[in-house]
Amino acid sequence: MKLNLEGKVVLITGSGKGIGKEIAKSLAEEGANIILNDVDPISLTQAEEELKSTFPVGVFKALGSMAEERDAERMFAAIEQEFGVLDILINNAAILIDKRFMEMNLMEWRRIFCNNLDSIFLASQQAVKLMKRDREPVILNAGSFGGLIPAIGYSAYNASKAAIANLTRTMAAELNPLGIRVAGYIPGVVLTDIIKPMLEHEPQRLIGQIPLGRLADPRDIANAVAFLASGKAAYVNGTMMEITGGKLCTQNTGR
Ligand SMILES: NC(=O)c1ccc[n+]([C@@H]2O[C@H](COP(=O)([O-])OP(=O)(O)OC[C@H]3O[C@@H](n4cnc5c(N)ncnc54)[C@H](O)[C@@H]3O)[C@@H](O)[C@H]2O)c1
Repeated sequence: MKLNLEGKVVLITGSGKGIGKEIAKSLAEEGANIILNDVDPISLTQAEEELKSTFPVGVFKALGSMAEERDAERMFAAIEQEFGVLDILINNAAILIDKRFMEMNLMEWRRIFCNNLDSIFLASQQAVKLMKRDREPVILNAGSFGGLIPAIGYSAYNASKAAIANLTRTMAAELNPLGIRVAGYIPGVVLTDIIKPMLEHEPQRLIGQIPLGRLADPRDIANAVAFLASGKAAYVNGTMMEITGGKLCTQNTGR
């Protein structure tokens, strides 16, 4: 299937590493110009070098926290100057703190909520201003299976991801009249830094919950996100696509 993403301008938040970087590669492979963003300058520069040396597309680097208003404004001003337009925003950035509810302090609780939700709020508000109806703009938000069925030890993260799924629906209904399609995706278990605490606790149990019997490869997520970002998914709106290997499809897997 041809996704027709050549020449599109795409921003992926938190794309210095992990799933975000893989999404960037997948979209660059389809010919889209890529704006990488991360708070971590080292991984951001590595991702930039990797993409530039592999794909003949524009690669632009936006260093800063998308959850900080001044950073977001500065980065979007630079994006506007460089491209003048934004076609696809992928709100991928998130953090997780591995602490039970009673062990977490208010600062940690707020850190997760502010990071995971403010980043979507700020990036999306800024992005809408650069989106043009006739270029079929899209915003995609990263949720989590923890937002559907919470896992013990990650209350703030789970709740923030449930909020993101809910927000995705309101954003769709409010932004569709502007010509902007909004949807989201729920990645399966991918061995990245964010998931390490969960895997360290009980790796076999986690894999045993997946009917396909394996963890997700970042590419599994990136391929599905590329489809969602394309016009081929034009009628996928206001919903979260599960890319989890069927992790939540039954109560037990027979494995
Ligand atoms: N890995 C999994 O198994 C899994 C499962 C379900 C959902 N997810 C979701 O997928 C997304 C990507 O996760 P990942 O596994 O690649 O995580 P990761 O920790 O490997 O990468 C996340 C990146 O986002 C960056 N980041 C965080 N907050 C930021 C901010 N405010 N501004 C800019 N950059 C920021 C981090 O520096 C990091 O480079 C997240 O939304 C996560 O919740 C991951």
